[in-house]
Amino acid sequence: MAEFRLPKNSRIKEGKTFKAADGAKQVKRFKVYRYDPDSGETPRMDTYEVDMDKCGPMVLDALLKIKNEVDATLTLRRSCREGICGSCAMNIDGTNTLACTKACSDIKGDAKIYPLPHMPVVKDLVPDLTNFYAQYASIKPWIRTQSAPPDRERLQSKEEREKLDGLYECILCACCSTSCPSYWWNSDRYLGPAILLQAYRWIADSRDEATGERLDDLEDPFKLYRCHTIMNCTRTCPKGLNPAKAIAEIKQLLVTRGQ
Ligand code: SF4
Ligand code: SF4
Ligand code: FES
Repeated sequence: MAEFRLPKNSRIKEGKTFKAADGAKQVKRFKVYRYDPDSGETPRMDTYEVDMDKCGPMVLDALLKIKNEVDATLTLRRSCREGICGSCAMNIDGTNTLACTKACSDIKGDAKIYPLPHMPVVKDLVPDLTNFYAQYASIKPWIRTQSAPPDRERLQSKEEREKLDGLYECILCACCSTSCPSYWWNSDRYLGPAILLQAYRWIADSRDEATGERLDDLEDPFKLYRCHTIMNCTRTCPKGLNPAKAIAEIKQLLVTRGQ
């Protein structure tokens, strides 16, 4: 059988090891992807030993302890530290998730940490989300109306509001899109699960009056129909949402209106 190997300058090297202080009893090892495209060096995995008796419980706590106390060059994004901003999304222990809500104790053995897969890397654990955000802007993520503005806010019934449950909670962390094989190979043209869930969030909003245009925009062999219902997106979402279902709803609406 043919064997394929990455070219030498693409392979990840073993990096430096930073030992825990003498006397540390609860040591956990974090193997972290390090890459600086400006340096001209190939990526490496640095190993940091962390004394868990002196560290908070979450992976983000450990990464910030490393950055603050051991190696200030480690680069990562974070803001809210409570699963709301989506900025600490990364690949931890083989799964895309949020570092601030992933407990270190849930990881057996060494914790292996990479940036979100199949995205260009700005540095270390920071992926370049430029294309992702441009795709988000392309679905016009705001209420679009044609009717005259009412004197007060546009009201919804309780039932209409409930249709947004499971959609409005999306924090645009990109964990789902970067776990989707179709998105890996076609992210220039396929919108991917996160953006399609967001597109459906506006289609499902009773106050929005641009449903027809939104569906017209999505009726495209690449933007929507690259989804092959592989379901990685739904399995990985750290907020427990179901992008695959939202995509199926869009497809169903297109079928229904075509009849
Ligand atoms: S659907 Fe879930 S995984 Fe995807 S962007 Fe939204 S919150 Fe993140
Ligand atoms: S269900 Fe669709 S969007 Fe989700 S991982 Fe599979 S192909 Fe990607
Ligand atoms: S820091 Fe905001 S979601 Fe993790």
